Amino acid sequence: MCGIVGYIGDKNSVPIIIEGLKRLEYRGYDSAGVGILENSHVNVVKKVGKVSILESEMTDRPINSTVGIGHTRWATHGAPTEENAHPHFNNDKTLCLIHNGIIENYSVLKKDLLKKGYEFYSETDTEVLVHLIDSFLKKGNGLLKSVRKALVEVEGTYGIAVISSLEPDKIIAARRGSPLVIGVGNNENFIASDVTALITHTSQVVYLDDNEVVEVYKDKFKAKNIKDEDIIKEVHEVTIALDEISKGGYPHFMLKEIMEQPESITNSMRGRLIQEDGISRLGGIRNQIDRIANSKRIIISACGTSWHAGLVGEYMLEQYTGIPVEVEYASEFRYRNPVINKDDTLIFISQSGETADTLAAMKEAKKKGALILGVCNVVGSSIARESDAGVYIHAGPEIGVASTKAFTSQLIVLALITLLIARRKNLSLVDGQNIIKELESIPGKVQRILELNKEIEKIAEDFVDAKNFLYLGRGYNFPVALEGALKLKEISYIHAEGYPAAEMKHGPIALIDENMPTVFLAPHDSVYDKIVSNIEEVKARKGKIIAIASENDNTIDNLADYSIKIPETIRMLMPVLNVIPLQLLSYHIAVKKGLDVDQPRNLAKSVTVE
Ligand code: AGP
Ligand code: GLU
Repeated sequence: MCGIVGYIGDKNSVPIIIEGLKRLEYRGYDSAGVGILENSHVNVVKKVGKVSILESEMTDRPINSTVGIGHTRWATHGAPTEENAHPHFNNDKTLCLIHNGIIENYSVLKKDLLKKGYEFYSETDTEVLVHLIDSFLKKGNGLLKSVRKALVEVEGTYGIAVISSLEPDKIIAARRGSPLVIGVGNNENFIASDVTALITHTSQVVYLDDNEVVEVYKDKFKAKNIKDEDIIKEVHEVTIALDEISKGGYPHFMLKEIMEQPESITNSMRGRLIQEDGISRLGGIRNQIDRIANSKRIIISACGTSWHAGLVGEYMLEQYTGIPVEVEYASEFRYRNPVINKDDTLIFISQSGETADTLAAMKEAKKKGALILGVCNVVGSSIARESDAGVYIHAGPEIGVASTKAFTSQLIVLALITLLIARRKNLSLVDGQNIIKELESIPGKVQRILELNKEIEKIAEDFVDAKNFLYLGRGYNFPVALEGALKLKEISYIHAEGYPAAEMKHGPIALIDENMPTVFLAPHDSVYDKIVSNIEEVKARKGKIIAIASENDNTIDNLADYSIKIPETIRMLMPVLNVIPLQLLSYHIAVKKGLDVDQPRNLAKSVTVE
C-alpha cells in the first residue's frame, strides 16, 4: 500500500527521498517519515499527514546525509500517529526500518520479544521486525544475515528497507508479496516500491521477486534468496516520460486522466487492429490463442473497478465467443477452493498489477493447472510477471486513486481479446471489420463527450448536498452503473448503489423520494423501452433523474430532470462511452464539496494488503 523510497550515493539523500515520496503519495498518505544516516547516527523524522508536512519539517534543519530511506504509510495496525509512522527504531537506535504489508504473526513474535526485554513504542505489526532483526544482530550476525533470519520467521507480506549505523555503506531491502524495485544509477542506487519514484534519476531498474533480499551499496548491489543463495538479477530499461506522472496544468490527476482518455484509449489499440482481416493482434497471448479459444470456460477475477471491467468482459466474451464466463471477486475466489479445470482460462485484471487479493487468487489458480492471463497497466508488475501470458492495457501511469482511464483501457483490451477469440471461432470477417471500425471511432466519440464537461459540472452543482445516489443500467450498462456508484462514493463520500435497472422494483424502489437522485444509463439499445419504463417508475415517486442517453434521443428530455446526450456505438463498446459522464459527474461533485479527489480518505492506489 505504502510508498517506499531509499537512496545511497554521494548526494544529499533527503530531497531525493522527499521528491520520491511525493510521487508515491497516492499509494498511502496518512503519515510519512524518513530515516537517514547522519554523522554515524541513524536519525528518524516522522509526521502525521501528507509528505509536504514532513518536507517543511526537514527543510528547517541542516542535513548532511547520503544514505536514507523514506515511507508514506497506509495504516493497517494502529492509528495514523507519529509513533506508528515509519521508520521504526530498534531499542539502541542503531537500526531503522520501513515496511509495506502486514506481518500476520506479529503478536506471537511480539510476546517473544517482550519476554527478551525489547521495548515497543508503536502499535504497528511492523515494529516486531526491527526488534527481531536486532535480536539476530545481538547474536553476532551481520545486517544482511540478521534480516534474512528474521524474515524466515515472519508470516505475511512485506516490502522492507533497513539502514544501520553499524553498517553505514548499505541499504538492505527485501520483498514478499509487496512490490520493490532497485533503481541503478551512476555511483548511486535507489530503492522504491514503484518505478515512478525513480524515473527522474534513472531508467535502469531491477524488479525484486518474492523472498529475495538485496544489499544495495552506492556502486553495486548483491541479491540473495532467503536461503542465502546468490541470484543474478536482470536490469530492465523503463520508459516513462515525466509529463506522464505530472498534472500537466490540470488541478487534479483525476481530471487529467479523465481528459486524456481519447489518447489512452488510442494507445491501448495502437498496432493491435488489423482492419483487412477484421481481427486484433495481441503479441502477448499469440502463442496461447488456440488454448484460449478451446477453453471450456473463462473465469475473470479482479477487484474494484477492474472487477467491473471484468463484468463487461463477461458480456463481451459470451456474446461473441459463446464460451461460458464467470466473474469473481479475487478476494472471495482465493478463499473458497474454487473448481478450476485444466481446460479453463483465467483472466486476472489489475491496473497496478500488485493488488494482493488478485495476486493471491492468481497464485491459487496457477496451482490448479489452468491457463493464467494477466491484463495489467503497470509494466513489470507482479501480476504481469507471474501470469503465463497477458496483455498490457498501455493506459500510461494512473495516479488518481479513483481509476478512470485504466477502466476504459481495460474495456478496450477486453474487446480486443474478445475479437481475437471470436474470429478464431465463428465471427465473420465482415463482423470483425465492423467491430474494428467502431473501435477506431471510439477516441473521437470520447472526445465529444469530454466537451460536455462544463454542462456536467453545472449539473453537479445541484447534487453537492445529496446524501444518497442510485445508478441503474441494464445489460452491458449494468457494470457501468456499478462503476458510476463506486466512483461517486470513493471521492465524494456520498453513499451510492449501482443496480441492474429491473432489480429496482425488487427493493431499492423503497428508497425513492424527492431526495434520492437516480442516474439512468439509457442509450438507444434493445432494452431502451424497458429503461424508459423504469424512469417512469422513479418519476412517479418524485425521484430526481439524470439520464445518460443517445445524442438523437428527444423523448428522454421530457422524462429526465437532466439529460446528458452522448454518441452511439455498438453494444459491446457502449460502456466505454457511458462511463465518461459518470466519471466527470463524480469528479465535479467531489471538487464542489471541497474534497481531495486524488487522495480520498482511507483509500490507497495500490492495495497490497489483504
Ligand atoms: C478504483 O477506483 C479503486 N480505487 C479500486 O477499486 C481499484 O480498482 C481496486 O483496488 C483494484 O485495483 P487494481 O486494478 O490495481 O488491481
Ligand atoms: N502494516 C504496517 C503498518 O500498519 C505497514 C502499513 C503500510 O504498508 O503502509 O504500519
